[in-house]
Amino acid sequence: MQSGLSDRAATRQCCSASSTHTEHPWRRHGATHCLLHRLQLAPSLLKAPVARRAPKAARVQFYTSATLAAERPSETTASDAASPLKASDATGHINWDSLGFGVEHIAPIMFRATYTAEDGWQGGLEPYGPLEMLPSAQVLNYGQSVFEGMKAQRSARGRIVLFRPEENAVRMRAGAARLSMPPPPMELYVEAVTSAVRANAAWVPPRGRGSLYLRPLLLGTGPILGLGPAPAYTLVVYAAAVGCYFKCGQLTPIDLIVEERFHRAAPGGMGGTKAAGNYSPVLMTQLAAKEQGYNDVVYLDAKTDTYLEEVSSCNIFTVTGRTIRTPPLEGTILPGVTRRSLIELARARGYTVEEVPIPVADAMEADEVFTSGTAVVVSAVGSITYQGRRRQYGELGRPSPVTLEMYEALTSLQQELDDDPFGWVVPVCEC
Ligand code: COI
Repeated sequence: MQSGLSDRAATRQCCSASSTHTEHPWRRHGATHCLLHRLQLAPSLLKAPVARRAPKAARVQFYTSATLAAERPSETTASDAASPLKASDATGHINWDSLGFGVEHIAPIMFRATYTAEDGWQGGLEPYGPLEMLPSAQVLNYGQSVFEGMKAQRSARGRIVLFRPEENAVRMRAGAARLSMPPPPMELYVEAVTSAVRANAAWVPPRGRGSLYLRPLLLGTGPILGLGPAPAYTLVVYAAAVGCYFKCGQLTPIDLIVEERFHRAAPGGMGGTKAAGNYSPVLMTQLAAKEQGYNDVVYLDAKTDTYLEEVSSCNIFTVTGRTIRTPPLEGTILPGVTRRSLIELARARGYTVEEVPIPVADAMEADEVFTSGTAVVVSAVGSITYQGRRRQYGELGRPSPVTLEMYEALTSLQQELDDDPFGWVVPVCEC
């Protein structure tokens, strides 16, 4: 990384001016405000990320998908590799029409930055590969880990776009604070995801046939033994070309079963945080549901076992006439970016949208139910089974009309088929 001593010196100067010292390592250096200031003082931190791994003598490592596959980087001169680290366009092996949601088509370049109180954030692009950490890494012992999900897509305007990336940054920063990790500065987060998209542009599927799913991770990777925050952190953004989340296909309704024994989150817990630790506990119930032929599980509130919370991997909505309802954000439900966007889109289309507790009994009587999330987009719910009773919504195998309308409204906006009066679509490149 090219941010040299002068950057660090600038940071120290900046931080010592506003030293709000606490026991947290990043706060010792003046908190987020100071990190933002640092980024302004040190544009090299973000402008020349690839130089971090380059030897000084004007030779850089340039990675092609073939060499990456062989895990052996080829060497070439700087003039051969005029741009920062960039994946080759060798995606001929990918059948864009049969993309699922998995790691089969992981993009070859990832972004990685590390944080310590002494050096701030340092990082850049590098080949997708293992993260080195000690067995004593905090994340492996005590689980300091939050993640995000985002999608880059080719739009009707011939460019690659992201959808509301700042919202994901805000959510990761909130999650970081909840788990006592240093919130990555907004600029760093946005640069991390946009540079990962640009570098892997060839892995963004053709329009309408999938997307490049981005998985930002923030991990406490520094070593520790007693319970406490890590002394060092890693921000990673890796990516994969993906299609539908549920195996049955994007518009095929899914079957859900209400989970009656376990809860996903409790008041005062961290259900509203996109923490890795929220996702493994749901596997037991999800896998059991899948064995019985359901696609996923819907959870009820931990206090009364009465109200819908969310599905393992996404938020949930009900539709009754022109009223759309979704559970309110009171700390136990993930504040989905797609959820928030659908609320605003539906209101703009004249629907009444209520963020209210939804008794499972009411959901069983609704006209339609759908789920939302970055990975699932909008997914029709074909049935919910609760206490042995199965309620079928709409026509078998087809999405109901409001669900379909909301799916089309969202995806048309995301793919720039429709105007974007909200300013949610962020162009990344015409590449
Ligand atoms: C997403 O929707 O992007 C998520 O991160 C959910 C995950 C379970 C796939």
